[in-house]
Amino acid sequence: MYNIEFIEEECIADVNSCKNSQDINAIRVKYLGKNGKLTTVLKSLKDIPPSERPEAGRYINDARIRIENKINTVESIIAMSEKEKRILEEQLDVTLSKKSNRQGGLNPISIIINDLIDIFLSLGFGVEDGPEIEFEYFNFSALNIPSDHPSRDSSDTFYISKNRLLRTQTSAVQVHVMKLQEPPIRIICPGKVYRPDDDATHSPMFHQIEGLLIDRNISLYDLKEILEAFAKAFFSPKTKIRFRPSYFPFTEPSVEVDLSCPKCGGNGCKLCKNTGWLELLGAGIVHPLVLEECNIDIRYSGLAFGIGVERAAMVKFGIHDMRLLFDNDIRILRQFR
Ligand code: PHE
Repeated sequence: MYNIEFIEEECIADVNSCKNSQDINAIRVKYLGKNGKLTTVLKSLKDIPPSERPEAGRYINDARIRIENKINTVESIIAMSEKEKRILEEQLDVTLSKKSNRQGGLNPISIIINDLIDIFLSLGFGVEDGPEIEFEYFNFSALNIPSDHPSRDSSDTFYISKNRLLRTQTSAVQVHVMKLQEPPIRIICPGKVYRPDDDATHSPMFHQIEGLLIDRNISLYDLKEILEAFAKAFFSPKTKIRFRPSYFPFTEPSVEVDLSCPKCGGNGCKLCKNTGWLELLGAGIVHPLVLEECNIDIRYSGLAFGIGVERAAMVKFGIHDMRLLFDNDIRILRQFR
């Protein structure tokens, strides 16, 4: 009747040979769409005698249900296999490149201080600490610095009150230590010091390492030996040092210690201004008046030195502008790790 069997067979053949969801959609349109083959037959029911209509209607409708079921079944099978295929194909790459794990590092000043502490520990020195806010007495008077000395002027010292200040030198710690400890004393004191200077080679805050050795029969010879050992360990084994006469109120004699230029080895270059030497630190034999003020037994004598940490860092790393060390420019600081 109306080729229903034929249409159904054709549809089943179509469905069996279809490959993907587009095919199955096309088949649904071809048979069940508005102008589909089966829809057309259903529409033509109105042309047959009314008495035959119910039976013909049922017949066609049964065929429609079978076709629909067939299409639906195959459609869901195809949908499932297509989904599986898609999942297999679109392998998700979950290996997002990781955020680079940038490590922080110590500021070159801290690196230098740690190196210097290691060197002096190996030379038998202990490490002491002292206050950054200091009494005038410890920073100046006890160190035999007269009340009219220019370094006491407010243009050279940050005063907090009449007799309190930000220490201008770690030498102040010498006084604390000598007043508290019995000789022999063998200490260094690393720390911050403050002076109102600010240019390429001066910063209002900088670091010093004070050295103090109190024992019997201490002479300039001991000073030279210790400082030479330090210079060789810190710069290079070939390094030489020399003493130049100098003056500090708290040492007598006082010396300025020069270092053979680490860049040219003493031959003369731009860094050492062709002299072969670089100024490194101040030192000397502790003044008897200072020992007396600190109640040190007269059987003892001592030596002291003050290393400028920034100065040492600049010489070692060939830095010309001290401000680079404090600017916190990560590109600069990273180079010293
Ligand atoms: N305190 C001196 C300065 O700041 C350095 C120094 C220390 C000199 C110890 C002699 C002895 O310049």
